[in-house]
Amino acid sequence: MTVDADRRQALREAAEAARYAPSIHNTQPWKWTVHPDRLELHAVTDRQLTVQDPDAHMLLLSCGAALHHARVALAAAGWRVRVERPAGTPLAVLHLDEQAAPEPAAVERFEQLKARHTDRRTVSETRLGTPVLDALVAATESEGARLHLIGHDQVIDLAVIVERAQKTETSDERLQQETAAWVGGERSDGTGIPDANLPAGLPLTTVAERDFGRTGTLAAGEGHDTAATYAVLYGTGDERHEWLQAGEALNALWLTATEHNAGLLPISGPIEVPYTRHELRRIIGDLGAPYLVVRLGLLDSASAKPAKTPRLPLDQVIEEASS
Ligand SMILES: Cc1cc2nc3c(=O)[nH]c(=O)nc-3n(C[C@H](O)[C@H](O)[C@H](O)COP(=O)(O)O)c2cc1C
Repeated sequence: MTVDADRRQALREAAEAARYAPSIHNTQPWKWTVHPDRLELHAVTDRQLTVQDPDAHMLLLSCGAALHHARVALAAAGWRVRVERPAGTPLAVLHLDEQAAPEPAAVERFEQLKARHTDRRTVSETRLGTPVLDALVAATESEGARLHLIGHDQVIDLAVIVERAQKTETSDERLQQETAAWVGGERSDGTGIPDANLPAGLPLTTVAERDFGRTGTLAAGEGHDTAATYAVLYGTGDERHEWLQAGEALNALWLTATEHNAGLLPISGPIEVPYTRHELRRIIGDLGAPYLVVRLGLLDSASAKPAKTPRLPLDQVIEEASS
């Protein structure tokens, strides 16, 4: 293969790996353009949840997670990458520098990428230890965001905020209709959340999981969430590049959780509803802009792992450009 064909192939494979990124309601709101010397990430507003996510914050977090996937894939192939984040379109451009033998840790990251998934089952009764929590905080910070771990004294406050956000979203009929278009059933179009990934009954937890308005077939387990760790991902501001970067940090955090056999469940309702997002600022001591609430915890190995969520066909998320 020529040098250029090698590079194009590496970029195409990175875009392919990014298909497995998490996204709000599995909307996969991105498209990649593969050029001979660079890879462009574009947002797809046709797949934006315009009622639930009018400011495209969740779309940007999702695109940031996809961007991190592409970076992890390229690092695992030994490529050094420069990421450009233009103010206009595209959202990001990946340029390849030179290639060397990959670091073993980069190869392992790629394995974690394949194993990562959203887990709505209740967490086990064993708490995450301090070394793991330290690793999760460090992973988030390595991508320029911060992680506020919720202490015992704040869990009830968080539960109330999450419940208020859920009530607000449940009472919004347009939002419920939008959710229904993406959630439940078999999802043969390659998007959305199938019944197999939704709990058969909402687990009885202190901090509630999102109520999608329907139950599925996932056995969520009997446990409670007393040993779960809740955290708020946050950063400096609300600019587009900051939300994108927060998505990269979310993915770094998620892969590190996967490495330690911990499950991660995003809880985005309290970020989507403006007044509960404001209350979350107080929870993090007014230190910055909250981007996402996450539940972390060890998973009960007794219950079966949820099935993989579907993905769009390659030609709907990857485009080839000749120059
Ligand atoms: C920005 C963002 C917000 C999310 N919010 C929620 C949420 O509030 N509740 C939930 O159950 N899942 C949430 N998810 C998880 C997605 O539903 C999940 O990533 C998607 O269905 C794909 O499944 P997978 O992560 O198993 O690949 C969120 C994911 C992202 C990236």
